[in-house]
Amino acid sequence: MCGMNILIIKGSPRKNGMGDYFLGQVTEYLKDKDCTVDIFDQSHSQISRYDADMDACEKGPSLFEQKLMKADGIILLCPVYLKQMPGALKIEFDNVSYRMHEFPLIRKKVIIFNYASTHGAKELSEYFCELFKSFGAEVIGSHEHYTMSSDIDYDLDCLFSQIDTMMKRIEDNVCTFTIRQEKLFTYVKRLVLTEMKHNVITNKQERWKEFLPYDSLAQYIKEHDLK
Ligand SMILES: Cc1cc2nc3c(=O)[nH]c(=O)nc-3n(C[C@H](O)[C@H](O)[C@H](O)COP(=O)(O)O)c2cc1C
Repeated sequence: MCGMNILIIKGSPRKNGMGDYFLGQVTEYLKDKDCTVDIFDQSHSQISRYDADMDACEKGPSLFEQKLMKADGIILLCPVYLKQMPGALKIEFDNVSYRMHEFPLIRKKVIIFNYASTHGAKELSEYFCELFKSFGAEVIGSHEHYTMSSDIDYDLDCLFSQIDTMMKRIEDNVCTFTIRQEKLFTYVKRLVLTEMKHNVITNKQERWKEFLPYDSLAQYIKEHDLK
């Protein structure tokens, strides 16, 4: 076992459904790989409702957040429910949203695998790509499976190939980001500096102490020995 930690998120709140099938396949695929596998299974999760009056900073990080933060690579397996992610999983993301402008997932790699009966998986992939990128992550790839029309073995092979790419990039310590992420960095940095100038105290300033010395994400990544 090496130090690489791969988190599999089973986004379905259902037990013994398709999510468990995909989770089993991915776990089996990773069995002989040089990594530690962690699982967040939405069907085992005790979600607490999002409560804006009690910021997550005060409550402490949720289990979902803790697992995200520990991971080097994240594989999201998510069904489409009414053209979106299941509500229970959305609450988990809502509870981490207070970290939205802190690039909490910087250097982490993500693969998105969405599945549905007939429609909505592609749109959900696009949404997740943007969501993870705005948390600072690098999206390695996304793939969709439609139970009514697509070939499950082919789709799993695509997923496995993306997993190999992700693990290689983690091993090689490679990190890329998009222009949009760079623009977000500049925008939030300006926001944080303005807050500080006007003595407005916010939680994100704590995290931004790490980023403030850098003019850009590119510079931050270069100086942290990432390629
Ligand atoms: C509440 C609910 C809403 C669904 N909405 C959609 C949908 O919008 N589009 C679609 O193609 N399939 C939809 N489905 C079908 C699921 O995406 C499909 O059955 C999937 O395999 C369920 O995965 P799971 O067993 O891991 O929960 C829905 C299923 C449920 C339970």
